Amino acid sequence: MDNRPIGIYDSGLGGLTVWREVRRALPCEALVYLGDGKNCPYGSRPREEVARLADEAVGRLVAEGCKMVVVACNTATAAAIGALRVKYAPLPIVGMEPAVKPACLATRSGVVGVLATERSLDGDLFRRTAARYGSGIEVVAAPGRGFVELVEGDREATDEAERTVRLAVAEMLARGADQIVLGCTHYPFLIPVLRRVVAGRGVEIVDPSPAVARRVVQLLDAGGLRCDPDREPRYDFLTFADEAYQLRLERKAFGR
Ligand code: DGL
Repeated sequence: MDNRPIGIYDSGLGGLTVWREVRRALPCEALVYLGDGKNCPYGSRPREEVARLADEAVGRLVAEGCKMVVVACNTATAAAIGALRVKYAPLPIVGMEPAVKPACLATRSGVVGVLATERSLDGDLFRRTAARYGSGIEVVAAPGRGFVELVEGDREATDEAERTVRLAVAEMLARGADQIVLGCTHYPFLIPVLRRVVAGRGVEIVDPSPAVARRVVQLLDAGGLRCDPDREPRYDFLTFADEAYQLRLERKAFGR
């Protein structure tokens, strides 16, 4: 039994989509969420800078006594996951996988759309994943330009959000994509808008966060790291920004 918390980190609010799934899968576990906030968005920063920010964040969660860390940010995973695992070994660190594999297995049209940040799309992780699972399948990738800003600004339910999403998915829809993979943890907050935009086209939206939560469960079990099942869970929210941002993290986490 191990009652230390699980750390979950993202550039901002996006990783809360993973936090929600981890909480659902492991209702007794204590969770410490770190939403950088000060340096968000990461998506168009140079790789080295994202790697440095990710290192700082994981270091902070280690200092909080976390037994495991989830890098709930595709951009930070793509930039730094290997180096983080080496530096913080034997701490288990779970990263985000672009869910290209399930989408390639499920597509009927043979065309899969992927939305992610610019930095994730030009990284090795995405290129390797697309090459590995996408043979014989057309993978149409597009950056979700403006998506992170919409979520960080609480503007998901606006006309601006609908226009921005429509523009980003236009090409993949025109090419016949029947799967749209969300390769950034901020994007699931835009699922209601996305659903409206693709309505009637038979398009499946693929959110990898439930699979990441399953991986967390697997690793906890493999390492004998589960907490006492009778515990009241504790949820903490940290940020490199200010107190107002910390309150926003907390409110967004509980859907308020
Ligand atoms: N939520 C992050 C991701 O999954 C990063 C978004 C950003 O800061 O640009 O890629």
